[in-house]
Amino acid sequence: MANRNLAKDARETCVLVTGGAGFIGSHTCVELMNAGYNAVIVDDLSNSSEESIRRVREITGVDEDRLSFVKASILDREALEQVFSTYSIDAIIHFAGFKAVGESVVKPLEYYWNNIAGTLVLCDVARAHGCKNIVFSSSATVYGEPEFIPITEDCPKHTPTNPYGQTKSMLEQILSDLYVGDNEWNVVLLRYFNRIGAHESGLIGEDPHGIPNNLVPYVAQVAVGKLAAVGVFGDDYPTPDGTGVRDYIHVVDLARGHVAALRWMAGLVGTGKPIGLGSMAGEPAEDGTRRGVGIFNLGTGCGSSVLDVIAAYGRACGHDIPYQIKPRRAGDIAENYAACDKARDELGWVAEYDLDRMCADSWRWQSNNPNGYRD
Ligand code: UD1
Repeated sequence: MANRNLAKDARETCVLVTGGAGFIGSHTCVELMNAGYNAVIVDDLSNSSEESIRRVREITGVDEDRLSFVKASILDREALEQVFSTYSIDAIIHFAGFKAVGESVVKPLEYYWNNIAGTLVLCDVARAHGCKNIVFSSSATVYGEPEFIPITEDCPKHTPTNPYGQTKSMLEQILSDLYVGDNEWNVVLLRYFNRIGAHESGLIGEDPHGIPNNLVPYVAQVAVGKLAAVGVFGDDYPTPDGTGVRDYIHVVDLARGHVAALRWMAGLVGTGKPIGLGSMAGEPAEDGTRRGVGIFNLGTGCGSSVLDVIAAYGRACGHDIPYQIKPRRAGDIAENYAACDKARDELGWVAEYDLDRMCADSWRWQSNNPNGYRD
């Protein structure tokens, strides 16, 4: 079946958001609503809460007609068939997936099954319903130990050190191959750097279950008094203060990158020059929709160290954050940050918010919702 024409008004476009109840998904739904799109969330709530969807509707003032929700796993072919039969889906933003690095090492089967097989089912059902437009949630983890910094999209990929990272890398390959086999596909791979922060309303944010693995959720729980001190994993890296340097990006900026990606796929922004994977250009087709595989880093282009983050969070919450230096964490790299010129030139997107703003918004969410969505 021919692919749907995306090049039309946002108000006439319906986006399927898999994993839309999660951290990045919920913030992306806010930006989709603000931009005038309609969306259907498919989420199995295995690591998220329906309350986040209620709050997205509250923030944006939309009803269930504009932002619908179906509780289902992307592995559930019948449920997906039902979704595609009920709604006229034009494009997919695909977030659904397991994402804990450490857990993926001990549960590889679960990770490969959910993330890979789930995406295969999703794409198979989507193409049968004439929807071949997909924005995929990838990660800077695909670069592994980067060959150069700042990391451009041309930086060679390296084998990720854990099954979570492998699923991201493999899914990039699978989605690119879909385009090679059928030029009707229209694929955008967004490689996220370290997303933190929360919506400025303080109503939605990251809600990790158990003890957080990532730095900022951990710092946030120390700030609110739930954990005693941050362990800083290594202070002997070849970086200015010896601690690891990352490119932290506000989740709202990241969310806006997805709206920009949809507009790029629709041929509404961009230079029209061939980009992406060699011959997999991004030329607009006759109907205006761009076909091809577009790969974009979403970051700020600025590196911040662990100690920079701890200091910024202290400014946001009004008191110092206690920390202790610990040994390095296995698998960590010294430094990474993105070159974001391609996203700027093609998507017309740049990150706006700085580290202080990210921490201030994270703190507002954390202090208003110390137990996440469970209150
Ligand atoms: C991690 C994942 C990455 C994933 C990303 C999602 C690993 C090895 N990598 O990236 O695959 O895409 O999250 O956001 O898990 N740190 C501390 N103390 C802590 C936690 C972290 O010092 O309690 C340091 C780390 O050593 C690192 C920095 O903080 O230098 C950021 O760590 P984290 O937030 O876990 O993100 P990444 O490791 O960059």
